[in-house]
Amino acid sequence: TAKQQDSSFLQVERKGESRIHSVDLDNPGFGDVFSDHMLSMEYRDGQWQQPKVVPFGDLSLSPATATLHYGQTVFEGMKAFKSEDGDVNIFRLQDHLNRFNNSCARMCIPQPDANLLGKAIKKLIAIDRDWVPEKYGNALYIRPIVFAADACLGVKPAQTYRLIVLTSPVGAYYEEGFDPVNLTTTEDYIRAVKGGSGFVKTACNYGPTLLPAKKAKENGFTQIIWLDAHEHKYIEEVGTMNIFFKINGELYTPSLNGSILGGITRDSVIQLADKWDTPIHQRPLTIDEIFEEDDKGNLEEIFGTGTAAVISPVGSINHKGQTIVTDREQIGPFAQRLYDTITGIQYSTLEDTYQWMSSI
Ligand code: COI
Repeated sequence: TAKQQDSSFLQVERKGESRIHSVDLDNPGFGDVFSDHMLSMEYRDGQWQQPKVVPFGDLSLSPATATLHYGQTVFEGMKAFKSEDGDVNIFRLQDHLNRFNNSCARMCIPQPDANLLGKAIKKLIAIDRDWVPEKYGNALYIRPIVFAADACLGVKPAQTYRLIVLTSPVGAYYEEGFDPVNLTTTEDYIRAVKGGSGFVKTACNYGPTLLPAKKAKENGFTQIIWLDAHEHKYIEEVGTMNIFFKINGELYTPSLNGSILGGITRDSVIQLADKWDTPIHQRPLTIDEIFEEDDKGNLEEIFGTGTAAVISPVGSINHKGQTIVTDREQIGPFAQRLYDTITGIQYSTLEDTYQWMSSI
């Protein structure tokens, strides 16, 4: 590897030989192939140190590393896209970094400078630009993480942290691709409580969902539709995504109540619906009223939104043995329009009216 001083704010250590020839960028799967480089930054002596681009590789950690024990950690997920001209653009970079910083605040982690981090991420993607897939539907997933690095078993905010940004060429997130997914509520588990950490992107919102999700899968469902922890009647999220309902020509999504993650794709859908003059309601939504609207024949579409899958149409919801079936194996026209518009902007075939894309 050759070291070079790339610019005043970022040090770059390049990998000797690229691994890209061993990767099929047309069929990368999701999340187990990593590009040549990663960004690395350390927090010590009360401040974030200069970021470095280094070859992707394993970390050497003390078994006492605080994060492994108490989960003081935060992550993000966003994507870079290649246009037909070969330009590479990141979707809503600063919005994701602002959320990263909000998550850090909740988890008692010192916030990095979001502008500097954004610049460093652009540089990282520029160095590994060949890893951004060209195929429509595929992208380079960007995964920032930050974690407490103290080797100490005391339960307290750490003095040292490590921030890493790794990137991974990805295809469709769900095996179903864009086919409708089948959901179920669960009476036995909850995802998040008010006052907890459900509104930020941190590991402890994900680990405990694995067992209920596994049980749901065993019963033939793709994912769980989460209800609120307190009354167990308000809809919160679906799997790791936000959820939307189209009822009588209007769009509904649960309001951000402190236990729901404020998705960037959720926000993009709200902005688009607004522009298209589709009334959009953000308010508490009960599972019962969704079933009632379905009974009345008013329920038109249900879909999840997230970075990984973008728009994920919902085929059915099971709740206490009753089932709503939407779309009848078809993708709803509104979900399709949203998908086409968001991905069109992402791959630069549509105009970027909202300045969502950052060129690297
Ligand atoms: C998303 O992008 O929708 C997610 O939250 C999934 C991610 C954690 C892999």
